[in-house]
Amino acid sequence: MCGIVGYIGEKEAYPIIIKGLQRLEYRGYDSAGVALLNGDLNVYKKKGKVSDLHAFAKGKKLSANSGIGHTRWATHGEPNDENAHPHVSQNGKLAMIHNGIIENYASIKTELLQKGYEFNSDTDSEVFLNFIEDIHTNTNVSLAEAVRLALNKVVGAYAIAIISLEEPDLMIAARKGSPLVVGLGNKEFFIASDATPIIEYTNEVVYLDDQEIAIIKDNNLTIKNIEDVEMKPYVQKVDMELESIEKGGFDHFMLKEIFEQPKSIGDCLRGRLISKEGKLHLGGIADYTNKVLNADRILIIACGTSWHAGLVAEYIFEEYCRIPVEVEYASEFRYRNPVVSEKDIVIAISQSGETADTLAAIELAKSKGATILGVCNVVGSSIARVTHAGSYTHAGPEIGVASTKAFTAQISVLTMMALMIAQKKGTLTESAFRNLLVELDSIPDKVAKCLDLNPQIEIISEKFKEAANFLYLGRGYNFPVALEGALKLKEISYIHAEGYPAAEMKHGPIALIDENMPVVFIATKDSSYEKIVSNIQEVKARKGIVIAIVTEGDDVITGMADHVIEVPHVHESLMPLIAVIPLQLLSYHIAVMRDCNVDQPRNLAKSVTVE
Ligand code: F6R
Repeated sequence: MCGIVGYIGEKEAYPIIIKGLQRLEYRGYDSAGVALLNGDLNVYKKKGKVSDLHAFAKGKKLSANSGIGHTRWATHGEPNDENAHPHVSQNGKLAMIHNGIIENYASIKTELLQKGYEFNSDTDSEVFLNFIEDIHTNTNVSLAEAVRLALNKVVGAYAIAIISLEEPDLMIAARKGSPLVVGLGNKEFFIASDATPIIEYTNEVVYLDDQEIAIIKDNNLTIKNIEDVEMKPYVQKVDMELESIEKGGFDHFMLKEIFEQPKSIGDCLRGRLISKEGKLHLGGIADYTNKVLNADRILIIACGTSWHAGLVAEYIFEEYCRIPVEVEYASEFRYRNPVVSEKDIVIAISQSGETADTLAAIELAKSKGATILGVCNVVGSSIARVTHAGSYTHAGPEIGVASTKAFTAQISVLTMMALMIAQKKGTLTESAFRNLLVELDSIPDKVAKCLDLNPQIEIISEKFKEAANFLYLGRGYNFPVALEGALKLKEISYIHAEGYPAAEMKHGPIALIDENMPVVFIATKDSSYEKIVSNIQEVKARKGIVIAIVTEGDDVITGMADHVIEVPHVHESLMPLIAVIPLQLLSYHIAVMRDCNVDQPRNLAKSVTVE
């Protein structure tokens, strides 16, 4: 959560910082601020979006060649102007932005209060900054050394950037548990939470590792760790097109990302799946296939939408590989004392690769000897780096807070993993394997056909935009799709929605059905088709309103449901990749019609780097 940007060089810092903050706004958007060095230390901060900050800063002293900026997702202290970052030290000379949580801030604050420090905000970050100032002024060490000493004392997670009125050619940044990238330009440096604010200026970056400090001084970058050991910067080229982080003519990133799915799934399959030759190769996990096929079980850990992709994978791995699978919420798993052994394979799924709970769950499983495979979207992310091996989803940057194309790319990768293992293990016949490859290869075209349903789904959305509740029901492979459809609606339109296995309806949720309750059935032709037809009848008998996602040409459900959305036929294990598309569109249109901020839903942030 929280996005941070910094610039030091010969250009005007403010426009670069504001644009960068807009790119990072998906990480948090309850308040924003900048600090600029221009002979003075000028700090402007405002509750609200980056655009509110920009309006507030208009006409103020903005010309500067060095500055830092922050867009916040509140953890300590409500979102208001005082709690917004940057914070300024008590002596007025240092400004700092911080992403993360300092767990021992209360004891540090008590110490500083005894020394006469006063605080303007409720944040742990202001305490952290004054702790650095206190060390700097009282021990007479350089600012970089004061930062290093302070980092050795704090407990928690941080990505920070600091500037000093006394040393305008200095910028210090450090990270632990929160991502930080340093961009290397021509006589200029950038720092940011991810590469998106940097890529239009330079493609050369250094991803800081945990407990590393970047010291930019007199146009030079030095990296050391908190033990004071100097590290050689590992410069990497970022492979990201500017268009991929812009809206490209769509009203919202979410809609753009929904429409990108034929391409993102295609990118995910490319070079890995050659259906004509019956070949499937996931290079990233190739060395681990024997370990997986001999595993006692597979544990899948993830959060939110990624957890739903994990549920789909559970069905696929069990069916094709005959390996027992358990799917765990990372946030629960990490706080239990789970039974994990060296014979377990853990698959961690994360779009951002930064989710704090998933990271902690990985560390726990690793400490118990399990082999960890990652399925991440963001290249070089923390999870991608701590796993033993893994496969990237290659979906491209996902900026809308509601996850869409990452979900279908995750399922695509997990399906390829399962099929690869099943073929090697011999639990799938060669002809079944080849048929599934052909079906998987057809998914991008079938998703494109689903996107043609957009106008029809917009009309249906209009009828339900005032609904207070929704129920989503599916069986088998379509049960996780029901969960995902409900989550999408909840998070962007703020309508209460629940996903259930359709058969469970009789055990409780059926009591909710009346003439006001829209029930979305994912009822495509598969092995439980007859059963779900009965469930639809049960809802209709109680006057519920049925919206059904059905297979093209279905005339049974068409005669029963109030609204029918027809999707192309595909093998049932691949149906989640198809059936989720109309649900993404339904939630999108309802949210737009309710005037909700689709890309930045209230209280949410894209990567949840707090516990
Ligand atoms: C839902 C959504 C969240 C994320 C969850 C995990 O639309 O975006 O539920 O899926 O926070 O995030 P990652 O996949 O980045 O670990």
